Amino acid sequence: MPTTPARTSSAKEWSPESWRACPIRQVPSYPDQAKLEEMERRIGKYPPLVFAGEARRLKAQLALVSEGKAFVLQGGDCAESFSDFTANVIRDTFRVLLQMAVVLTFGASLPVVKMGRMAGQFAKPRSSDNETVGDVTLPSYRGDIINGPAFTPEARIPDPARMEFGYFQSASTLNLLRAFSSGGYADLHEVHRWNLEFAERSPLAGRYQDLAQRIDETLSFMAACGMTSATTRDMRETDFYISHEALLLPYEQALTRIDSTTGDWYGCSSHFLWIGDRTRQAEGAHIEFLRGVKNPLGMKVGPTQEPDDLLRILDILNPENEAGRITLISRMGADKVTAKLPALVRAVQQAGRKVVWLCDPMHGNTISTVAKLKTRNFDSILGEVRGFFDVHAAEGTWAGGVHIEMTGQNVTECTGGAHQLSETDLGERYETFCDPRLNAEQSLELAFLVAEELKGRRGPAAQPALAAQ
Ligand code: PEP
Ligand code: CO
Repeated sequence: MPTTPARTSSAKEWSPESWRACPIRQVPSYPDQAKLEEMERRIGKYPPLVFAGEARRLKAQLALVSEGKAFVLQGGDCAESFSDFTANVIRDTFRVLLQMAVVLTFGASLPVVKMGRMAGQFAKPRSSDNETVGDVTLPSYRGDIINGPAFTPEARIPDPARMEFGYFQSASTLNLLRAFSSGGYADLHEVHRWNLEFAERSPLAGRYQDLAQRIDETLSFMAACGMTSATTRDMRETDFYISHEALLLPYEQALTRIDSTTGDWYGCSSHFLWIGDRTRQAEGAHIEFLRGVKNPLGMKVGPTQEPDDLLRILDILNPENEAGRITLISRMGADKVTAKLPALVRAVQQAGRKVVWLCDPMHGNTISTVAKLKTRNFDSILGEVRGFFDVHAAEGTWAGGVHIEMTGQNVTECTGGAHQLSETDLGERYETFCDPRLNAEQSLELAFLVAEELKGRRGPAAQPALAAQ
């Protein structure tokens, strides 16, 4: 049975600005308040970026995931950037996500809900307010929607004008994603052809070609049955959703609108909004803001998350226990996932809480190289995904998907993978504005390996899913 809401303040009136009375973390200090207020007013008049009906459709699809009937792929940059804003960057990330989704669909034999960390993933929480290089200390870079990455005093001053650029870049990115999704670029046969090319090129060609070959046979069989791109919409178009961390609340508030068809509030900067691991305090501003919008919500859960506190937060964010409303994104680290995750999964399960569980195998596995570059090793990433699947298999719950930082570019930011990138290779194309991302090949490789896991785990014992829920 669902627990009854425990929090007194959840009974309190909510408004788009009620978060302002709550303690807040990770907040930029804008020197010019008048300029900030002017920008909030201005963005408050701009059109919403998404329509509430789309957010509801995504929520319904996530409800299926919570019942073990679908799988999620969420991925994209750690931080989108103003300077890296080109059609190619958007297209390549989208293309790799589609390629991964095809492989995962085959592995899971289930629909895959696709969400980009795109079209609004700009604001970054930081572990320190300041950054020191040599004997110079400056405010940390907090993402392009807040300040600039250059290590100069001017660049690091939070500037409200950046919000407006962020809004328009998001609109433009989303426009292209919508065009690609429905204009023919997402055609399943094309995506599969790209996968065949990848499998041929990979040093692990033998292993991946086998799966790619089986997809090939399936597509030929479907074509023989009359299901082709010409006859079937689902083979030439796709549903693709956008998501980002709802960190910069003045911006999120400015894009919060009442949906005229239901009278409910929606955060209209994105279909899906999540709360980061550093801002998930039950009484804090970020939870207060998000409890009042009806979008599907995510929350990162790291190793410091306590089960009781998690249940309390679920009461606040989802008092009606609506399926699809909450996605918990576990980011424990490969070495902690099997120790930390079971207690949380069990607590949620015992309380009868409906959630989607995703694995973010990136944020608990960041290490620093000798040359002081942040990196992540492919084996740790894969190790955390496997640990996540093991925990859910043991608990009889559904491992609902993966959340990754990746790019369609051929960068060198994470070590390992079939091409065995080493720490000394990282300097070649280290381009991220924040955390290290899987490159195109590593992302696809991960999808092939996860698909193998999914296939291997199918069957009555390995898939207890959801009879019990
Ligand atoms: C992120 O997703 O980029 C991030 C900062 O994650 P977390 O909140 O899990 O640290
Ligand atoms: Co990150």
